Amino acid sequence: MAVYLSVDIFGHPGQTFYVKPGGEKSAHCIVLGKIVPSGSKLSDEMECHSMKDPLGVALFGLGRAGMIHFLNLIRCYRVQLKYIIDLDIPKIKQLLIQYHQRHTVALTPEEAEKVYNDESVGAVFVCSPTFTHQEIVQNALRKGKGVFCEKPISQDIAGTEACYVESEKAGKPLFCSFNRRYDPSIRGVLNGIEEQNVGDIHMVKMCSRDSPLPPMSYLKISGGIFHDCAVHDIDVICWILHQYPVSVYAQGHAHIKAIAEMDDVDTVAITMKFPSGALAMIDLSRNASYGYDQRLEVFGTKGMLVSENQRCTGVQHSCTTGTSLAPMHFSFPQRYADSYVLAMEHFLNVMEEKEAMEITKESTLTISKIATACEESYKLGKPVELFLTQPEGPTLKSDTNGEMVTA
Ligand SMILES: NC(=O)c1ccc[n+]([C@@H]2O[C@H](COP(=O)([O-])OP(=O)(O)OC[C@H]3O[C@@H](n4cnc5c(N)ncnc54)[C@H](O)[C@@H]3O)[C@@H](O)[C@H]2O)c1
Repeated sequence: MAVYLSVDIFGHPGQTFYVKPGGEKSAHCIVLGKIVPSGSKLSDEMECHSMKDPLGVALFGLGRAGMIHFLNLIRCYRVQLKYIIDLDIPKIKQLLIQYHQRHTVALTPEEAEKVYNDESVGAVFVCSPTFTHQEIVQNALRKGKGVFCEKPISQDIAGTEACYVESEKAGKPLFCSFNRRYDPSIRGVLNGIEEQNVGDIHMVKMCSRDSPLPPMSYLKISGGIFHDCAVHDIDVICWILHQYPVSVYAQGHAHIKAIAEMDDVDTVAITMKFPSGALAMIDLSRNASYGYDQRLEVFGTKGMLVSENQRCTGVQHSCTTGTSLAPMHFSFPQRYADSYVLAMEHFLNVMEEKEAMEITKESTLTISKIATACEESYKLGKPVELFLTQPEGPTLKSDTNGEMVTA
């Protein structure tokens, strides 16, 4: 009898259930970091995979991002979480008890040498504050560990470049987790573009309004809204257009006094112009009172693709006064839950040399340069021109008639 595999959204066999083709368990499922139709046949590779030893990993930082990765790592059959490193040892210990992770060791940052010197640790996940990334990344790479690093890799371009040099020297992957590239809806928009569903792209709009307002203690060390938030949107737009902008113009304002006092802003509008003539707009806010507002729209000669806000439930209430929807997701752990799992699975596939790294040194560095140009534009109050090397591979350009041509 044929065996068909389906898994929960985390893609972990611990929660595997079996369905026949056309079964109604889920619209799609995730297997080894790939979105596959429900009822896909269990391949030899998938069967063999579950017999391998898990990769020993360590997690640096157990804050907002670290908690997401902690929960995904302990559910992932491909890894064994050996260490958690954080300033707050009681917090780690309490969590390890709560989740029955008896074999995971809690360490302070001062004790991190134990991780670097432990040969059974093959990779580290870096989710500590941005200013700590470079040191952890370089130390781990020097000891031959692969690195999954939360964005941004470092506080500046020189630091990011130094990390990639270390990765090249060590011959170990350094993955910058621009997780939104792994969101099924955003990836669906990219797929639609590649299938020529919108034709010649004229405009891309992204709205990223955070919820809730991050703590002031985080904002003070976040690196500022351009490098902390706008990088996600800049990355997605450049990725789906397969181009880098020739100019950017950013305006911003701090409506929140404490943010103004940090010399940062909480509301930003960015426009970018691309070599094909496509224009992009980014609408950013640190605080949307009604939920985590995340929208993407691509408009072209043949149509429009939209990734709409997702909601806590699909329930709608219609009555004589109108129709109301369930609230949109509260924040990033809920809205982008799938993307964090898929980014992790991609990294593990890279570690096993099953996939080439999708987020390259070249793209990470270029996105950082574009974010810096946006910040500069905001400070100067005028557009900034960019002279960036365009990504390799065919770029879709439009001629003056609006017809698509491949450059
Ligand atoms: N991709 C995303 O969606 C996303 C979302 C949030 C944050 N981030 C990124 O994740 C990183 C952490 O952000 P956060 O919001 O989780 O911050 P946070 O302040 O919530 O948590 C940081 C944690 O790191 C710990 N820490 C401090 N110094 C450390 C060190 N030297 N070694 C190990 N741990 C240390 C702190 O005690 C704290 O628990 C940032 O780089 C941020 O840009 C990414």
